[in-house]
Amino acid sequence: MPLKSQGPRPLIDPFGRVIDYVRLSVTDRCNLRCTYCMSERMQFLPRKDLLTLEEMDRLASVFVTRGVTHLRLTGGEPLMRRCVMDLFKSLSRHLRSGSLKELTLTTNGVRLAEFAEDLAAAGVRRINVSVDSLDRAAFARIARGDRLGRVLDGIAAARKAGLRVKINTVALRNDNARELPDIIRWAHELGMDMSLIETMPLGAVDEDRTDQFLSLAAVKRDLQSYWTLTELPDRTGGPSRYVRIAETGGRLGFITPLSHNFCDSCRRMRITCTGTLFMCLGQEDSVDLRAPLRSGASDGELNLAIDRAVAAKPKSHDFVLPVRGAGPALARHMSITGG
Ligand code: 5AD
Ligand code: SF4
Repeated sequence: MPLKSQGPRPLIDPFGRVIDYVRLSVTDRCNLRCTYCMSERMQFLPRKDLLTLEEMDRLASVFVTRGVTHLRLTGGEPLMRRCVMDLFKSLSRHLRSGSLKELTLTTNGVRLAEFAEDLAAAGVRRINVSVDSLDRAAFARIARGDRLGRVLDGIAAARKAGLRVKINTVALRNDNARELPDIIRWAHELGMDMSLIETMPLGAVDEDRTDQFLSLAAVKRDLQSYWTLTELPDRTGGPSRYVRIAETGGRLGFITPLSHNFCDSCRRMRITCTGTLFMCLGQEDSVDLRAPLRSGASDGELNLAIDRAVAAKPKSHDFVLPVRGAGPALARHMSITGG
């Protein structure tokens, strides 16, 4: 245990950014096949490649000892991972000890009704639910699955269990552009925050992404033509820029991954479901943590690998606006890296 004597050190990258937020993808599998995210016949990873829940718990706990206070479980669809509630329950010890301030979840909501109570009991307070349309047919087309009813039931169950729900909606030129104000009004009427997300060129999908791409700058201009938007200084550690909409009273976030406006204050790292640590969503640089985990590395050795990663965190990502007919900017899918 070579590093034990030095005590836990915070994670500070070469640009002075303190990393206190980790997103952990617990599975690459999903019960939907959103057109912008996956191909219809998505090939999933062999099960043995995925970290076990015990390995995920250990890794997350090492990050918590290094000052990570916010942990979000993502996927794929996290609630598809068998026994995922065991991981939530086990990680909740860090909430009780006070070292973790927040344990959150990003979900598509399809199985949320089954798990809402257990999530609340494990100390989860906030969750993000992806809803790209409130129109049953449009939802079914985008997600390649007729599951809107289940998602809405899941959201109701989560709210009943006392979870704060934020809605994430990917803005899609053909599928939901005209519906966005209705989705915003719906979310705000129920007292839910909402964020709009620009499509990111991650992983091969079946459709041409330039057809789907809808600039949020344009969406914002459109909303401003009939609503009063006031910029808010709020930063939640995530990449959203927020406005308040006077007419709905709610908060709306804009997540524009193709602009660089959030890299300067980036506090995040991502761990894939196979235990690869990515320093930036939009860069290929990574450090494998599964090999040391599986070869019996001590916490000290894991910490050394994490230090190497933090030392290599890039200043910003390299995304460029999609060019018609071009392949994805990065080969890996969001479902592997985590949203
Ligand atoms: N571009 C933008 N958003 C994406 N998501 C998944 N893949 C992409 C992509 N290529 C979104 C999901 C979900 C969040 C976790 O990420 O819709 O809201
Ligand atoms: Fe599943 Fe989310 Fe990808 Fe849709 S966007 S296929 S819900 S992981």
